[in-house]
Amino acid sequence: MSTFMSFPRNFLWGVATSAYQIEGAVNIDGRSPSIWDVFSHTASKIVHGDTGDIACDHYHRWKEDIQLMKNLGIKSYRFSLAWPRILPEGRGKVNQPGLDFYNRLIDALLEADILPMVTLFHWDLPISLAGGWLDRSVVDAFREYTSIVTKAYGDRVKLWNTINEPVCASKLSYRLGIHAPGMRNPYQSLVAAHHLLLAHGVAVPEIRANCVDAKVGIALNLGLYYPSTHSRMDVDAVRHMDGEDNRWFLDPLYGRQYPSDMLTDYVKMGFLQSFEPDFVKPGDYATISVPTDFLGINYYSRNIIKADPINNSPGEIITVPALEENRTEMGWEIFPFGLYEILSRVQWEYKPGEIMVTENGASYSTKPDDTGKVHDEKRIQYLQKHIAAIGKAIQAGVPISGYYLWSLLDNFEWAQGYSQRFGIVYVDFSSQKRYPKDSAFWYRQVIEQNGLNSD
Ligand code: FCB
Repeated sequence: MSTFMSFPRNFLWGVATSAYQIEGAVNIDGRSPSIWDVFSHTASKIVHGDTGDIACDHYHRWKEDIQLMKNLGIKSYRFSLAWPRILPEGRGKVNQPGLDFYNRLIDALLEADILPMVTLFHWDLPISLAGGWLDRSVVDAFREYTSIVTKAYGDRVKLWNTINEPVCASKLSYRLGIHAPGMRNPYQSLVAAHHLLLAHGVAVPEIRANCVDAKVGIALNLGLYYPSTHSRMDVDAVRHMDGEDNRWFLDPLYGRQYPSDMLTDYVKMGFLQSFEPDFVKPGDYATISVPTDFLGINYYSRNIIKADPINNSPGEIITVPALEENRTEMGWEIFPFGLYEILSRVQWEYKPGEIMVTENGASYSTKPDDTGKVHDEKRIQYLQKHIAAIGKAIQAGVPISGYYLWSLLDNFEWAQGYSQRFGIVYVDFSSQKRYPKDSAFWYRQVIEQNGLNSD
């Protein structure tokens, strides 16, 4: 029997995007290149050789995109600032046209009654910061950038995300080589992760200083791993992956320092020379564990894994593919219960005080029909089940105050280019015409009713 599930009053129903994925206009008004411009222009890094040069041309079409959100009744919009638009040299000289773009955007959002949530870093690091996340001076550059943007927007923006998914910006970028800048060095990925965490730590007091009533958090994509059997090795592989993707970030953020089992593993694997990594300086843990107001959680899927019997090392795992009919077009398993599990686990283990689901959504390529309608029934099912899982977590006492659907628009899906479409609004990339999908109208109803049928 289907029952109606009401959400708390003032629940923030949102949508999310990020600068490089939607803005385009990469050479305009003084923007300098980011590591993603370089990476996407490097042969064979991105599916079909796609780049973010034009993307959704949001830089020119932002008014239309705000109107779309307004029509859908969206309460809050999570977007990121392009650091290289504001500080083309990474630090130092401020580029006023870049700053002005977001001023216009923020004013128009407020005018449309949509609360802006700003993400400071969603991966598009200025290339002028030559050492990238490996050079500790990046932390100070981030502090400077945060100070400038919070002074500029802090009077109007009250919701701040420091870093989006530090595990991706370190592991995928510096160890697996599949995201910019495309490095393959495990030690460096841990250095980058540390500097990302430190950048978060130094940004929080800056935000507070310049925006008295700010709510501040970081957005983590927490990986969910299940063992394919209950063998000791498979269970241990889960411990390791949970450590790598989750505890390595959550533990220092919540005052526990890097987890000792992971330090042991990384030394064993040759990623670290010692249990006391040389990149951790006195005072760093205190900086990283600065109190925040909420934890942002991005959730899409889970992984069923087993230990690799040949390469018998804690980090060597095999991912067991989920049933095809239960996967989105990204190949990611649809597992709504995992969202419930992650939300509850984080609450009991780390007590962040308040949680926002800062990303969740599904890739399906459904196209407009002859009348311009997009019947993306599978996306609706995915969203329905995941939002219901959040509702159940709230009923179980987890303090969740918002949900940001990824994404408003089909956009540049990083290494997958335009081949994966996460939007609730279809974008025809040749004409830039937008077509709200059925899921957009469905979401409008959820927002209007402040809830949904639970099954
Ligand atoms: C997340 C990213 C976001 C988007 C979704 C599908 O990892 O934060 O930019 O690409 O995945």
